[in-house]
Amino acid sequence: MTTVYLNGRFLPLEEAHIPVMDRGFLFGDGVYEVIPVYSRRPFRLREHLARLQASLDGIRLENPHASATWESLIGRIIEQAESEDQGIYVQVTRGPGPRDHAFPKQATPTVFILPLALTPPAPELVANGVAAITAPDNRWLRCDLKATSLLPNVLLRQLSVDAGCAETLLLRDGFLSEGSASNIFVVANGLLLAPPKSNLMLPGITYDVVLELARAQGIAHEVRPISETELRGAGEVWLTSSTKEVLAVTTLDDQPVGDGRPGPLFRRMHAAYQDYKHIVMRGVKSPPAPLLQSGE
Ligand code: PDD
Repeated sequence: MTTVYLNGRFLPLEEAHIPVMDRGFLFGDGVYEVIPVYSRRPFRLREHLARLQASLDGIRLENPHASATWESLIGRIIEQAESEDQGIYVQVTRGPGPRDHAFPKQATPTVFILPLALTPPAPELVANGVAAITAPDNRWLRCDLKATSLLPNVLLRQLSVDAGCAETLLLRDGFLSEGSASNIFVVANGLLLAPPKSNLMLPGITYDVVLELARAQGIAHEVRPISETELRGAGEVWLTSSTKEVLAVTTLDDQPVGDGRPGPLFRRMHAAYQDYKHIVMRGVKSPPAPLLQSGE
């Protein structure tokens, strides 16, 4: 049985219902987070809650809970979930009201917390990389907000599904913004490049981890705009997210990226990420056996 939290109650998922007049349902008027949990330890909870606050501020919705309350609500969902590893989905909407675009005078936010399965990418995806396509980034100009109104992302992601690919990389005005549900890194001439945080992309928590690991590993990197030409000529392309961790994109628009295999920097970063996950996220002392042998 999956236990969820809805507006002050812990209850079975099947019994959790919201009114049809909820603005989350009518307008997509809400924000969300996906927080990875390893060995029942929420990863970077403070950062996820800070991003939730930024998203709430961005849609002018008062945070219904103090951080300590969020931590205890999320903690109870984690305790009750079946699996040790989870993705905790948190959603806050502006709540029910008349169907009017303008905010209701008295809004009571809807708060929903749901544990999702968190399965790391299959070893063959890590070993071989994934295929991706590109598409024009036709989303709004507040992509830094983790809004539940995800229709543009849904349509863009479906383009890659239709093409048998894992992700759609988004280009705006000749520059790479991010993926439909991930952040994107590029390796050009041995230098790791990341697009700078701005209103055009979600400030990924995994993006931050990857940049921290690059610093710790002494991997030369720059945070700066990445042109479409650089993307198409890149030796390596990676995607990152809380659920996908870090994955190599080895085919882009039917063309091989580099030699069409996950590159040497990806293998280093992937190993560093797995060590980090094991030691820091799970709190285990010794690192796991490497998934990828060096030179594999
Ligand atoms: N998506 N950019 C977009 C548009 C995203 O939807 C996501 C994550 C990211 C990566 O952010 P993070 O590293 O914090 O997971 C970047 C989540 C997983 C989702 O919507 O399910």
